[in-house]
Amino acid sequence: MDPGSWYAEEIERTIITEDEIRTKVEAIAERVSHDFADTEELLLVGVFKGAVMFMADFARALTVPVKMEFMALSSYGNSASSSGTVRILKDIDSDVTGRHIVVVEDIIDSGLTLSWLLKYLEGLNPASVSVVAMLRKPGMQHTEIPVSYLGFDIPNEFVVGYGLDYGERYRELPFIGVLKPEVYR
Ligand code: PRP
Repeated sequence: MDPGSWYAEEIERTIITEDEIRTKVEAIAERVSHDFADTEELLLVGVFKGAVMFMADFARALTVPVKMEFMALSSYGNSASSSGTVRILKDIDSDVTGRHIVVVEDIIDSGLTLSWLLKYLEGLNPASVSVVAMLRKPGMQHTEIPVSYLGFDIPNEFVVGYGLDYGERYRELPFIGVLKPEVYR
């Protein structure tokens, strides 16, 4: 059975294949490894849960040593979406002062999560903060997000897979697909 084939009836089409993801992860990791070749150790910061798949693949494709941290953030929900207020449910465990941080995100949609997170991390006095994002929906961000390394710009459609969920499902799909509207309507 192909991975994810049990979701076949619910996925309208694949927009990024497993092979395309693998190639892109390797290309981004090569650039980051090159750019930080002289850095003693990178600190990767991922945000639960969506970034887990990308973080796992990206960290293993790098050729520089890293440490990994994960944060859990409360969803800002509808009421707070205009303010971008985020609450930390799980913080990073280590001292990031003077460290080179690379934030690893699966998707930038409104950009509220990242714009909040970047401010938060910069307040902890790291040496630098860079952003690696697998997906971005252009034109959807409220504020400009400085993305140093981007996988793909994608259309504003309901995408799932490779960490992205709908109702906590589909995260394990090895590709990125568009959900059939009848599933979420
Ligand atoms: C998703 C995704 C990003 C964020 C992007 O997380 O993983 O962190 O939304 O959206 P934004 O640019 O509009 O802020 P979500 O809150 O759905 O949690 P999850 O990762 O656990 O699915």
